[in-house]
Amino acid sequence: MGSIERRAASDPRDVVTAAGISIRPTLAVDVPEMASIEALAFSDPWPASSFHELLAHPFSRMATATDEAGGIVGYCIILRAADEAEIANIATAPGARRRGIGARLLDDAITAVESAGGVAMFLEVRESNTAARALYASRGFAAVGRRRGYYRHPVEDALVLRRDATALE
Ligand SMILES: CC(C)(COP(=O)(O)OP(=O)(O)OC[C@H]1O[C@@H](n2cnc3c(N)ncnc32)[C@H](O)[C@@H]1OP(=O)(O)O)[C@@H](O)C(=O)NCCC(=O)NCCS
Repeated sequence: MGSIERRAASDPRDVVTAAGISIRPTLAVDVPEMASIEALAFSDPWPASSFHELLAHPFSRMATATDEAGGIVGYCIILRAADEAEIANIATAPGARRRGIGARLLDDAITAVESAGGVAMFLEVRESNTAARALYASRGFAAVGRRRGYYRHPVEDALVLRRDATALE
């Protein structure tokens, strides 16, 4: 796949980006492939209908990451409410991980929220999800709470993470 490029060291987020990856608004035709990635990424995946419902939701923002050939390699969904936003879902296709796609998607979401005046972002993450927790920590998300038994298959606590707009600035 594409080569890896790195932003200038002076960039406070020091984002590693995968060359050839594009991020664009999600289209209805993306949903079957997104649902396939979802089924591989989560033990309790959203059905395709959830993606379709959120596409029609006035407060959602859905982004799709594509590779050089236009294939879908990831997605990120946020829900906005007043000056706050929630990362509702983010995943990278298993074969495309550790190439900076998740970071690109998260940075894109953060930029969108902050450009619109958002001051805080939240999300829930399985306590055992070390990959996602490392990604979020790298973007300034910090634990602010715990929801006991929040997840199914298997039952597990969720950590609630928050990122303020000033994080890492
Ligand atoms: C979490 C997820 C989206 C990360 O996507 P990705 O495209 O592989 O992430 P990136 O390549 O952009 O990684 C960015 C940073 O996240 C961290 N990270 C990602 N995967 C990691 C892993 N397996 N172990 C430790 N750290 C990891 C690292 O800090 C990494 O930076 P580095 O590669 O310079 O070390 C991906 O693992 C995934 O889809 N998981 C299943 C779905 C999921 O758990 N979503 C989150 C729900 S809350």
